[in-house]
Amino acid sequence: MAISSNLLLFSASLLFFVVSPIQASFRPKALVLSVSKDGSTNQYITQIKQRTPLVPVKLTLDLGAESLWVDCDQTYVSSTYKPARCNSGQCNLARSKSCGSCFDGPKPGCNNNTCSLFPANNFNNAATSGEVAQDVVSVQSTDGKSSGEVVSTPKFLFTCGSAFLLDGLASGVKGVAGLGRTKISMPSQFSAAFGFARKFAVCLGPSNGVVFFGDGPYSFLPFNVDISKSLVYTPLILNPVSTAPASFQGDPSSDYFIGVTGILVNEKPVSFNKTLLSINREGHGGTKISTVAPYTVMQTSIYKAVVRAFIKEIPSVPRVRAVAPFGACFDAKSIGSTRLGPGVPNIDLVLPNNVVWRIIGLNSMVHVGNDILCLGFVDGGSEPTTSIVIGGHQIENNLLQFDLAASRLGFSSTLMFPKTTCSNFNFTSAAYVEYSSI
Ligand SMILES: *[C@@H]1O[C@H](CO)[C@@H](O)[C@H](O)[C@H]1NC(C)=O
Ligand SMILES: *[C@@H]1O[C@H](CO)[C@@H](O)[C@H](O)[C@H]1NC(C)=O
Ligand SMILES: *[C@@H]1O[C@H](CO)[C@@H](O)[C@H](O)[C@H]1NC(C)=O
Repeated sequence: MAISSNLLLFSASLLFFVVSPIQASFRPKALVLSVSKDGSTNQYITQIKQRTPLVPVKLTLDLGAESLWVDCDQTYVSSTYKPARCNSGQCNLARSKSCGSCFDGPKPGCNNNTCSLFPANNFNNAATSGEVAQDVVSVQSTDGKSSGEVVSTPKFLFTCGSAFLLDGLASGVKGVAGLGRTKISMPSQFSAAFGFARKFAVCLGPSNGVVFFGDGPYSFLPFNVDISKSLVYTPLILNPVSTAPASFQGDPSSDYFIGVTGILVNEKPVSFNKTLLSINREGHGGTKISTVAPYTVMQTSIYKAVVRAFIKEIPSVPRVRAVAPFGACFDAKSIGSTRLGPGVPNIDLVLPNNVVWRIIGLNSMVHVGNDILCLGFVDGGSEPTTSIVIGGHQIENNLLQFDLAASRLGFSSTLMFPKTTCSNFNFTSAAYVEYSSI
């Protein structure tokens, strides 16, 4: 019995390998990008292949950025680069309202009668105007359990950034992978090109992580748990006013906002001015998720209230001198260590319909040297554009699925419960066979 079923499996896999390379209509179910965290900048770095011939391009992830942009000033060589002509379908999809000329071209990034967008470096709050263009982009596909064949899409829209915009990005990075809430962001374009669900998921870690484009399964070793099966959902909120450093008048924000209505520390409500949690007519206020902020940033009065409440819950733990950028640090020797990180009170973000996003010690506390643990939240000043920006440290080892069609966020809570981490996706080296979308 055992032997015959093994034989069956063996012949089935032979068949697969013989047939799949000649199937012209291979359609991936999902795509996958490997992510690593750059230690010196805290940026999340990924890599795609682009152009003809294909070259690897390192990119910094920016969850809320409107599109992919790459530096076209230096060494952009490709026989398939095509600028988007004014009033074309591409310019329309990009919602560009500007049409320009360029005097030192023609070359990638500098052509006449092309539309432009605003490639941005949100780490420096810098932006410029850049030509919209299309070229080949190639990434690995996945069945949700391991990475598979490389697939290409020939007309991927992106923006040409400039060399100066790379200042402050991690070493070797040549642009930004924008995953924002637009029709030309990477998730929207991959879904359109390969015909899969308008969903994507990010699972970041202190060293490695993964981005999935398309629906689950999103399975992680060692037990191959499919995290897409255990998500809790909350609506995504559209901020009608752009939160980018530069934008066209009337553009909505491409950032992902959620409706936090309150904060609990050790299950007790923290009191602060709740008006800050709603988005006003100027687009200010509210709560967004960011891969640009390494730690959650809160408007001063919220920050102070949370810190006060937190300190009150651990009266026996000595405070030590604060280490920037944090304002509340503690003697690490006085804090126990648990499977869920430092043994400190949970911090809960309260969401509509009795949903909470629980932040455990692993995601709230930051080790600063050997003996100091700091509460990993940062004071955002009295008038930040957005009142709460949930940052990298707080989303690490939590899987977040953005469902663009249903306008909702699915979140897993810490992957410590299903006993895995975001670094446990089974990346296998890419097969050499390449397939194209139509
Ligand atoms: C754009 O057009 C102007 C004249 O209208 C010309 O001087 C310039 O060389 C053109 N640039 C490119 C990139 O073709
Ligand atoms: C990872 O994926 C590869 C390719 O699908 C598979 O052969 C291998 O067994 C997987 N590794 C583990 C540990 O499951
Ligand atoms: C609460 O915050 C809003 C928005 O910043 C402000 O307009 C209002 O005056 C504040 N209310 C109180 C009671 O401080």
